[in-house]
Amino acid sequence: MEDYTIAVLGCGVMGTAVTSAILKAKFEPYPSKIICCTNSEKLSTELKSKLDSDLIETSYGSESNNKAVSKADIVILGCKPFMFKDVYEQVKGSLSGDQLIISLLAGTTIEELSVMSPYVAKVMTNTPAQFGCGMAVVSFSDEAESKYSDLVMKLIDPVGKAMKLPEKNMDAATALVGSGPAFCLLMMEALVDGGVRMGLPYAVAKESAAKVMEGTAKMVLETGEHPAALKSKICTPGGTTIGGLLKMEDAGVRGGIARAVEEAANISASFAKKK
Ligand SMILES: NC(=O)c1ccc[n+]([C@@H]2O[C@H](COP(=O)([O-])OP(=O)(O)OC[C@H]3O[C@@H](n4cnc5c(N)ncnc54)[C@H](OP(=O)(O)O)[C@@H]3O)[C@@H](O)[C@H]2O)c1
Ligand SMILES: *[C@@H]1O[C@H](CO)[C@@H](O)[C@H](O)[C@H]1NC(C)=O
Repeated sequence: MEDYTIAVLGCGVMGTAVTSAILKAKFEPYPSKIICCTNSEKLSTELKSKLDSDLIETSYGSESNNKAVSKADIVILGCKPFMFKDVYEQVKGSLSGDQLIISLLAGTTIEELSVMSPYVAKVMTNTPAQFGCGMAVVSFSDEAESKYSDLVMKLIDPVGKAMKLPEKNMDAATALVGSGPAFCLLMMEALVDGGVRMGLPYAVAKESAAKVMEGTAKMVLETGEHPAALKSKICTPGGTTIGGLLKMEDAGVRGGIARAVEEAANISASFAKKK
């Protein structure tokens, strides 16, 4: 695909995160135009100044959604999942049937999205994508997999890191990737509480807890080692770290976190069944 246009239908938190990541990245083939569609004029004006680039056009409202889709080779869906049917009704007249659909909607399945085109990629990402350090997993329809998987990975990778995953694993990924930041934030809050309890000023405790989590993640990513191996290297025999770790095991923290992922995945699966 060359000289292509992207329409982003629903350019809120996630749509803007993906769009600004693309704007900051360099890859070939690069889009020649990105049309960002919202519902309200206010957001549209804000977007134009936020995503300051010659590539960006902004528009709002049903009629302009339709126009944007008629010009688009790729449609990125960034509206809320419950809006999908309405947005589809607005634009169905402009769908050519061979456009590539990239959906950011949690829950909406490739089968449901196929009413728009046989070429569908379903992306699950998370809020850190706003800062270029998000995680994204991507599933494809059979048609899209062979034709567009390279292009989709180039478009999504700039949010941080993108990996392919079969659609059957999407509920698990929704839990780990989508909800994961909230689970990490609870752990971070607890580290801050502990620091403050022992007399650290709040600002120091907060900065320290965030840097500890960032640095720990970097060690795992850069060494490729199992977390348990890195953890054992921190434990001096008879020392402070092993003492703290045993308290965490007594409290069932490990099981608590793993079961939180299980519960979130179960809830994600139950949403799909209800429809
Ligand atoms: N937030 C997360 O952590 C997260 C994580 C993973 C996946 N997701 C998925 O990402 C998707 C978007 O979530 P979000 O948090 O980015 O939501 P959001 O910020 O509320 O964005 C939704 C956008 O859709 C626009 N919109 C509403 N109706 C429209 C229409 N008829 N035509 C065009 N645009 C329309 C809204 O415009 P106005 O503001 O002008 O009304 C808004 O900009 C959801 O499907 C969610 O499942 C979110
Ligand atoms: C998730 O669902 C499975 C199957 O229904 C069930 O066995 C399991 O206990 C559930 N997990 C949680 C954390 O509720």
